[in-house]
Amino acid sequence: MGKPSAPRPPAVPDQKTAADLASVLPMTATVKDGHLFIGGVDTVELAHEAGTALYVMDEQHIRHQLREYVKWTRYHWKDVDVIYAGKAFLSLQMARLVAEEGCSLLCASGGELAYAIRAEFPMERVQVHGNNKTDYELEECVDAGVGRLVVDSLFEMDRLSAIAEARGVKQSILIRVTPGIEADTHDFIQTGQEDSKFGFGLAEGLAMRAVKHALELPGIDLAGLHMHIGSQIFALHSFSAAIEVAVHFMQEIRDETGHTIRELDTGGGLGIAYGLPDEPSTIKDYGKVVVDGIKEHCEEHGLPVPKMMVEPGRSIVANAGVTLYTVGSIKEIPNIRTYVAVDGGMSDNIRPSLYDAHYEALIANKADKPREMIATVAGKHCESGDILVHDAPLQCPESGDILCVCATGAYCQSMSSNYNKQVRPGVVFVNEGEWRWTVKRETYADLMAQDVE
Ligand SMILES: Cc1ncc(COP(=O)(O)O)c(C=O)c1O
Repeated sequence: MGKPSAPRPPAVPDQKTAADLASVLPMTATVKDGHLFIGGVDTVELAHEAGTALYVMDEQHIRHQLREYVKWTRYHWKDVDVIYAGKAFLSLQMARLVAEEGCSLLCASGGELAYAIRAEFPMERVQVHGNNKTDYELEECVDAGVGRLVVDSLFEMDRLSAIAEARGVKQSILIRVTPGIEADTHDFIQTGQEDSKFGFGLAEGLAMRAVKHALELPGIDLAGLHMHIGSQIFALHSFSAAIEVAVHFMQEIRDETGHTIRELDTGGGLGIAYGLPDEPSTIKDYGKVVVDGIKEHCEEHGLPVPKMMVEPGRSIVANAGVTLYTVGSIKEIPNIRTYVAVDGGMSDNIRPSLYDAHYEALIANKADKPREMIATVAGKHCESGDILVHDAPLQCPESGDILCVCATGAYCQSMSSNYNKQVRPGVVFVNEGEWRWTVKRETYADLMAQDVE
């Protein structure tokens, strides 16, 4: 199983059709009359009706992933909370869907919390984290009654305690620890190593100091520990190593303070297939490694098994989504490459420019045709680096074709921008032959809504 950021071999036309791309497409993807269908909806007709660029999310796929997490974690231990990380993709309908599936919601800002509040998400099932929450955000969390706050610094802990005390309540917290594990993923999305802006390091006693401090503060109830070692992780041994360290720390806490840690949140991070060679671990195997790992280490240390929490984001929504674009200009540079330009780009998907992320593409109205050439899908922004897919197999394109970039359901819409005053695409949910907006396409008026004449 290769590291997800490992260099890829030069691409060759692979003659694959959409039917061969199942591992990167939503689970309901099929081909009919040469068109790609998702959720029973013809994506080509959808693109013509709703316009492009357009994010399309398969509702059945999202629900299936949430259920897989619930099933394969609770299979090994009854008390596991599956907390969807809203940063991957969040809309009001998405928040309601997560609630309907009996899962919890992880928010990373006051803005994400505002979505939870507006969606009437059960507040006791909301968790808020972030390495630099403002006073205002801390007050919003306490006032809203969020279930857990993940505390990242002593500075934050003191302010939070004062805010909670002033309101006559105790806020339940998890302390974020960095277990000193370098997860097997891209450097920019590793977070569990000692040198991290997140959390308290275990080395040199920083995390223990934080625990002792929390136990003394009147406005704080120390429920447990939190960690998140990174994202797009393929190899499960990174999770096992972090769990071993965390449970050992739980024992040190009990020995030094007499306090029993009741909850352990191991974060998110399970990788997904962006490209055809990618073979991420399954949710079933992940559930076993995480839950059995915690149980086994607790047994070794004579600790009660804590309530467990996992926080998946990418693995819930990434493969549920695709982005549809209309092909514009096609520029063939002899002996170099062919650029296929589309009506979107780095404003709706920053990941290729940010992380060198790789995607698979196909032409939705030629979904039954083989990918018989190599093309580079370029965006329309004023940056040479505005490339969505670098030198990858594609069906022969023509202007007006509907081009589909796969696995864009996570960290694309949520990281989108208005660069070049591009309006953000809308997001539609598709299900059982129907589609509906979950986020409408922006308008020029939206772009100027905050401008002052
Ligand atoms: C604290 C925390 N939890 C969960 C996640 C979700 O991670 P993923 O989308 O890789 O599952 C993130 C992502 O950055 C995170 O920072």
